[in-house]
Amino acid sequence: RGGSSPPFPTNIVYKEISIMTYKIAVLQGDGVGPEVTSESIKCLKAVSKKFNHVFDIEFGLIGGVAIDSTGNPLPKETEILCEKSDAILFGAVGGPKWDNENFNIRPEGGILAIRKKLKTFANLRPVKVFPSLINSSPIKPKYIRGVDILIVRELTGGLYFAKPKKRWNTARGKRGVDTLKYTEKEIERILDVGFKLAQQRQKKLTSVDKFNVLESSRLWREVAVKIGRDYPDVELEHILVDNMAMKLISQPKSFDVIVSENTFGDIISDEAAIISSSLGMLPSASISHLKTNNTSKSKSQLPFLYEPIHGSAPDIAGQNKANPIGSILSLAMMLNLSFGLYNESQAIERSVNKILSQGFRTSDIATNQKETISTSQMGDLISSNI
Ligand code: IPM
Ligand code: MG
Repeated sequence: RGGSSPPFPTNIVYKEISIMTYKIAVLQGDGVGPEVTSESIKCLKAVSKKFNHVFDIEFGLIGGVAIDSTGNPLPKETEILCEKSDAILFGAVGGPKWDNENFNIRPEGGILAIRKKLKTFANLRPVKVFPSLINSSPIKPKYIRGVDILIVRELTGGLYFAKPKKRWNTARGKRGVDTLKYTEKEIERILDVGFKLAQQRQKKLTSVDKFNVLESSRLWREVAVKIGRDYPDVELEHILVDNMAMKLISQPKSFDVIVSENTFGDIISDEAAIISSSLGMLPSASISHLKTNNTSKSKSQLPFLYEPIHGSAPDIAGQNKANPIGSILSLAMMLNLSFGLYNESQAIERSVNKILSQGFRTSDIATNQKETISTSQMGDLISSNI
């Protein structure tokens, strides 16, 4: 090439070849968080290879490990990383090391703050039973075969967030308070998500409250009735949370979409995990809106957060024992809900199903403790089957 001539002929317009890059922030956190998310990353790599997608992964600190290195469970860099990502994969936070009751800074503050920051008011927790795990659940097969529930947990309000929330000293001893407060708008938007999802499913919505005791629940039920009128095709049922706790395991097949307050949803979803056989099995998506075809590729929206429903499980952390399936299925939800990659998401679910049907089990879902595989073996099997 001659020194002064332009490097390219100027009469040709070069079109930029657009390869969609999906930017994913991975917040592994504490306990088993790093172990389970590492297996999801193996699956992401397998999807990338098979379907020819570019995923750009960047790690950020959250929870106890973030407190140790920055003093803050959600450091500013992590916030910035999340805001510029297309989706976030979260592991788990917490552990005995940070459990001193006098500490006001807690690892859990990290996940609560990022949920709030990203306005992910709706947490979708699907509960299904893989056919090969029917006998792994302590509940009799006839009750759980064919269960297909979607718990829609309100995630950025209610007892978790409302003020006042504090502890203080008085002349007559210490006091502590949490507040269960909802605005009409907050209840409306979570029920709206629930009804829209029910329309795409079995068209039944169960609204959970404690109407007989709590004022916030009376408002909740009033709003549920009002929103329900906009969805005449969906059957609306109200249930008290204590009764829900019972019916969820005695008649799980009677539910389709379940919508509830933040704390109630936290509790009933751990209970529901037993239908699927183990807490390690359930994934979730924390979203700020329901995407339509028009919004699916928009970059202006805040990213969604994907998290297994289990915690950091300090008792088995670092032992390569945790079940990575909750995290791997959360990744599958990400591919579908954030990126519209339905086939890719299905490929992951099919692989999980296949590996389970071949009898491979981590210890939490094993009926025979002598024949268990490790976290990383499970991840290797699922990813290589994709
Ligand atoms: C969950 C967890 C979290 C919650 C904790 C870790 C703060 O239990 O995602 O269900 O309570 O929301
Ligand atoms: Mg929980």
